Amino acid sequence: MISLLRMAPENVELYLERIYEIETLSFPAPWSINAFRQEVKNPVSHLLGLLVSGTLHGYVCFWLFDGEIQLVNIAVHPKARGRGLGNYLLTKMLEFAASRSTQAIWLEVRRSNRTARRLYEKFGFVEVGRRRKYYTDNNEDAVVMSLNLAEKSPDEGPHKEKPAQAWNVPAPSPTNSRDSF
Ligand SMILES: CC(C)(COP(=O)(O)OP(=O)(O)OC[C@H]1O[C@@H](n2cnc3c(N)ncnc32)[C@H](O)[C@@H]1OP(=O)(O)O)[C@@H](O)C(=O)NCCC(=O)NCCS
Repeated sequence: MISLLRMAPENVELYLERIYEIETLSFPAPWSINAFRQEVKNPVSHLLGLLVSGTLHGYVCFWLFDGEIQLVNIAVHPKARGRGLGNYLLTKMLEFAASRSTQAIWLEVRRSNRTARRLYEKFGFVEVGRRRKYYTDNNEDAVVMSLNLAEKSPDEGPHKEKPAQAWNVPAPSPTNSRDSF
């Protein structure tokens, strides 16, 4: 059974070891455990864990501020990839976006990350720019992608589903920002 859990200071410690395992298996320059601790304290940040039969298999982290979302992290455990879990996480983020009348979603992705780029394209994200040598570990360019939700009609696109009730959180206000993955 698949479920989604909003990480908070009260529950994140239970999952941090597994999150960090997935993070280090997924990225050449992984976030630290403390970075995840900071995310759950940040009022604009939403860290959602994907549980399969109670075990964390992936997560997505995004910031909501000024009516826009910045996707800052998404990963699925390597052993669980290719089974639709990335799809599920993005769908849930889009449902959340729809529930908050979000205008646009932004993200950066490594130019070489064809898997993630295909996933985003499938959801309608388009390339809107590049950041030269954005990733300092290997000087790789970032592809900036966005999904303009304001342009879509209410019953068009993957965010058309009824908003999920899983996120009963206060409206966020901007605090900090930092470079993402
Ligand atoms: C990107 C990631 C989250 C996808 O998770 P996943 O659970 O494997 O994805 P899904 O099985 O839901 O597949 C969703 C889509 O991703 C794309 N995709 C998945 N595996 C792929 C592969 N091996 N090659 C090309 N595209 C692939 C496809 O578009 C697929 O849609 P389709 O099945 O309709 O063709 C996962 O590969 C991952 O954790 N990667 C490492 C971390 C990362 O790069 N995060 C993104 C940073 S910007």
